[in-house]
Amino acid sequence: MTIEQYIDALPKAELHLHIEGTFEPELMFEMAQRNQVSIPYASVEEVKQAYQFHNLQSFLDIYYAGASVLLHEQDFYDLAMAYFQRCYEDNVVHTEIFFDPQTHTHRGVSFGVVINGLSKACQDAKKQYGISSELIMCFLRHLPQDDAIKTLEQAKPFLSLIKGVGLDSSELGFPPELFSDVFQQAKELGLMRVAHAGEEGPASYVWGALDALDVSRIDHGVRSQEDDVLMQRLVDEQIPLTVCPLSNLALKVVNHLKHHNLKKMLDKGVCVTINSDDPAYFGGYMNANFYQITHALNLSKDDVKQLCLNSFKASSLSQEEKTYWYERIEAVSQHD
Ligand code: ADE
Ligand code: ZN
Repeated sequence: MTIEQYIDALPKAELHLHIEGTFEPELMFEMAQRNQVSIPYASVEEVKQAYQFHNLQSFLDIYYAGASVLLHEQDFYDLAMAYFQRCYEDNVVHTEIFFDPQTHTHRGVSFGVVINGLSKACQDAKKQYGISSELIMCFLRHLPQDDAIKTLEQAKPFLSLIKGVGLDSSELGFPPELFSDVFQQAKELGLMRVAHAGEEGPASYVWGALDALDVSRIDHGVRSQEDDVLMQRLVDEQIPLTVCPLSNLALKVVNHLKHHNLKKMLDKGVCVTINSDDPAYFGGYMNANFYQITHALNLSKDDVKQLCLNSFKASSLSQEEKTYWYERIEAVSQHD
């Protein structure tokens, strides 16, 4: 098997994926027309040309503008089903999907419209493709904690549909400690907790996410490498990092994939996983991320296998489900 065939054949879990970041320009255009929402682009080509980013904020501005065409339950359903189709093509068998409720509720779209559309797609993805999934609601860190607390209140009637909470949006200047109360409330509700940290922000934000928010995974976390004590903690406690190579390249967190620290962290024993973050904006879904980082860093088949094993280990699946997928991965690698 070539390394690409090996990547294709291995089952994978995706743990860092913003559903609003899967908005392909064609679908965005179609929805803008059917909902009669104007977007500042004349054609699909123009949308694609706008996707040149120089940092996280320059991306977020465009990403929030794109989300403005989502109005009805059907829109959220269609968006998620288009993503599940990509999962199926890439052998992603389990996915934990982020959504940003505040991006929608602030435009007058109710929490229920968002969550019902997404969760119906999750049910249908299980039926149509056999893909399991969870939903994680993220708080926007550029907004005050009070707004996050209101959002958690709005989520209460739908808690059975929500696995956990996350923290995303502009990182620098918005340390995790600002959100310790709302994360404490989420913990008391029995929700899983994750947070973006150490993408553009320093290693101290990763400490903050672990200590002030009590998260079980760090999203990105690539700047953890600047702190040896933190690295040792990540290894000792096997705290997973959901790394997103093509995102890091597009947002200039690294200037070339050859300089990405994923392999260094993997070799040190960090539980690193590969994910696509906002694939419609960053040039590729799960397998594209695997192919490109594999070639740039000359990853071995053992590295690729480890990354796939880690994706299930770091997931919220039961031990029984994890064991099932470990065995499937073993079977693929024996066959090679
Ligand atoms: N929202 C969507 N993608 C994000 C990222 N990479 N970092 C922070 N917030 C985000
Ligand atoms: Zn992200």
